Amino acid sequence: FLHKIVLGIETSCDDTAAAVVDETGNVLGEAIHSQTEVHLKTGGIVPPVAQQLHRENIQRIVQEALSASRISPSDLSAIATTIKPGLALSLGVGLSFSLQLVGQLKKPFIPIHHMEAHALTVRLTNKVEFPFLVLLISGGHCLLALVQGVSDFLLLGKSLDIAPGDMLDKVARRLSLIKHPECSTMSGGKAIEHLAKQGNRFYFDIKPPLHRAKNCDFSFTGLQHITDKIIMKKEKEEDAVLVASGGVASNFYIRRALEILTNATQCTLLCPPPRLCTDNGIMIAWNGIERLRAGLGILHDIEGIRYEPK
Ligand code: KG4
Ligand code: ZN
Repeated sequence: FLHKIVLGIETSCDDTAAAVVDETGNVLGEAIHSQTEVHLKTGGIVPPVAQQLHRENIQRIVQEALSASRISPSDLSAIATTIKPGLALSLGVGLSFSLQLVGQLKKPFIPIHHMEAHALTVRLTNKVEFPFLVLLISGGHCLLALVQGVSDFLLLGKSLDIAPGDMLDKVARRLSLIKHPECSTMSGGKAIEHLAKQGNRFYFDIKPPLHRAKNCDFSFTGLQHITDKIIMKKEKEEDAVLVASGGVASNFYIRRALEILTNATQCTLLCPPPRLCTDNGIMIAWNGIERLRAGLGILHDIEGIRYEPK
């Protein structure tokens, strides 16, 4: 094989995902098992339940991704796995499984930071050079950063409280959207996007939070105000590209708002397709490729790395 090929494994939250991606960005194989339906019934993620579901599915999902790729595991250049941030019990399943596989196949191991992976996904789908501005909006995070290199991030602002996806999930739960026949299997954010299309956007006159704060921090315990904080940043920096990623960035209303903002400031907005914005194995494998190419954080000896899930 001329190209580097990486197997990526993701279990940081409630998706068990794996993918095989090559150096040119070709997705050779992928598989995902979503736990959304189970967690919707309990009104949120119960970590030991998520752990158990990861355990039940990881072997099959990794096998499916590998089989679909039609490569032999011995052709892999490395195995990349999310090691943080996320739910400890969920992360542990992916890490233990990966370390075992790394030992069996005698391949290098590349530990992946979940947010770095969300930020770099765009380089698989679009030609974008460093530096670029990235807005990461998901169930666990909201941050604005300048990406200067594969693992060189300058944090410009973050949520002072909860993440926008967390807020959307809580609102959806309070409104019992799971009972809506069209939304019974959708994440909270997706259900709200779906139903909001039928709503009247002028019904409430709402004022965004942190309006007077002259920085890039966000807050989501009140109302939403994502674009406000980026206008302020753009006034200060000459960034030509704004990348938006993370589960909440699969929302087309938010994408449109960001597009209006970037058009007005002669910036380019780039968003990976929705299925690559929400958690997936492809972004982890691609992050592994980026790190292999940059020669960063590749472990050839996993002796000493231990993870014993409780
Ligand atoms: O990135 P992600 O899959 O997992 C984390 O790393 O958190 O993001 C999941 C979050 C959930 O809170 C979900 O409600 C939200 O992304 N989400 C959406 C949409 N699809 C998923 N939020 C708004 N609109 C959507 N279409
Ligand atoms: Zn995520």
